[in-house]
Amino acid sequence: MTAEAMARTGLDEAVLTDLVHAFYARVRTDPVLGPIFAERIGDWGWHLERMVDFWSSVALMTGRYHGAPVPKHAGLPVTWAHFDRWLTLFQATAEEVCTPEGAKHVIERAERIARSLHMASQEAIGARTRCRSCGRG
Ligand code: HEM
Repeated sequence: MTAEAMARTGLDEAVLTDLVHAFYARVRTDPVLGPIFAERIGDWGWHLERMVDFWSSVALMTGRYHGAPVPKHAGLPVTWAHFDRWLTLFQATAEEVCTPEGAKHVIERAERIARSLHMASQEAIGARTRCRSCGRG
C-alpha cells in the first residue's frame, strides 16, 4: 500500500520532510497562528520530527506515528477561522512542495482531520461550560 501511494502521489520521506518544515516555517511567522504554537512548543526539532512521522502515517500508511492529536487540540483557544487559516497555509505549501497529485492527496487528508479536530475542540468547550449535574449549556 505504501509503495502504491508513493508511486501514485510522488510523496516520499524527503518530500514530506520538506513539506512539514516549509509549512511550520510559515505557521511560526503567521500573526494569528504563530503565537498559539510559540506558547506551547518548546522543542521545535522534536515537534517537526513528530509531524513528519504523522504525515508519513497519514499519507503513506507507514504506521510511524503513535500519538493522540485530539486531546492536544481540545483545549486550544481556536475557532474554525484558525483551522481555515491553517488549511490555507498548508494548501499553499503543499502546492509548492509536492506534485499536483501529492498536494491533492495531503490536502484532502488535512481537510478531513481539521474538521474532526475542530469538532473535538468545540465539544471540549461545550463540555467545560455545561452544568455537570443537569448537562445544560
Ligand atoms: C487551528 C489549527 C491548529 C493549531 C492552532 C494547532 C496547534 C497545535 C499545537 C500547539 C500542538 C502541540 C501540542 C502539544 O504538544 O501540547 C499541535 C500538535 C499536533 N498537531 Fe496541531 N494544530 C492545528 C491544526 C492541526 C491539523 C489540521 C492537524 C492535522 C492535519 C494537526 C496535527 C497535529 C499533530 C499530529 C500534533 C502532534 C500531537 C502529538 O504530540 O502527538 N494540527 N498542534
